[in-house]
Amino acid sequence: MSDNTLPPTPKEFWSDVWKEGVIRFHQKDYNQAMVHFFRDIDLKNKTVLIPLAGKTNDILFFLEKGAHVTAIEFYEGAVMAFFNENNIPFTKKDHTYSGQNITFYAGDFFDYKNHIPFDVMYDRASQVVFNQENRPAYYAHMSTLIDKHTILFLGAIDHQGPHDYGPPFKISPEEVMSAYKNMGIFLEMVSSQMNAASEKMQAVGIEEVQTYFLSNIQ
Ligand SMILES: C[S@@+](CC[C@H](N)C(=O)[O-])C[C@H]1O[C@@H](n2cnc3c(N)ncnc32)[C@H](O)[C@@H]1O
Repeated sequence: MSDNTLPPTPKEFWSDVWKEGVIRFHQKDYNQAMVHFFRDIDLKNKTVLIPLAGKTNDILFFLEKGAHVTAIEFYEGAVMAFFNENNIPFTKKDHTYSGQNITFYAGDFFDYKNHIPFDVMYDRASQVVFNQENRPAYYAHMSTLIDKHTILFLGAIDHQGPHDYGPPFKISPEEVMSAYKNMGIFLEMVSSQMNAASEKMQAVGIEEVQTYFLSNIQ
């Protein structure tokens, strides 16, 4: 169970998203920015953290590179779907599903503990789950899982619309950089793309969305 002092995460929202199958964030193919970034980086036997992972197939990319992946996703149906859809046999103990070189924690990010900092942290669309009020708790917990030697590659979105519109909530690259700078980690822009906003966003006056990725290695 989550510590009551932590801000609530909108679990009902995400449970409904999964139950209704409206998982527009899910990509069938590997994220191309991620593939491009890691293509020449040796990940053999490296430990990779993927927070708020959904059932992302990007896990498979890291496996192919010889890494050990730890993914975290509270919606258990998504975790099972990942293993079943990819025909990966797994065993289950308490909240943890294990198979090949994957440890998939089916629980709340804030409940996941690890004593050794991960070698790599890949985050696509996890910061955007939290609004401005809840984000400091996310970064505080993230700081217990990584350190300044961890290779980070992380992506979020920004736009001209209101801060309280979401999820996904917008975050400026400067805010992400500042949150990680407080952990002694210095991020720089790796890629940035402007795209037309979804119909839902356009209905509230958001025309374009910036999708960007940052890293502490260039
Ligand atoms: C926008 S999706 C991104 C999924 C994945 N990173 C991807 O690229 O496909 C956010 C995911 O976070 C999960 N989630 C939300 N709050 C969470 C929490 N507190 N702990 C663990 N997972 C959470 C949701 O169920 C959802 O699958």
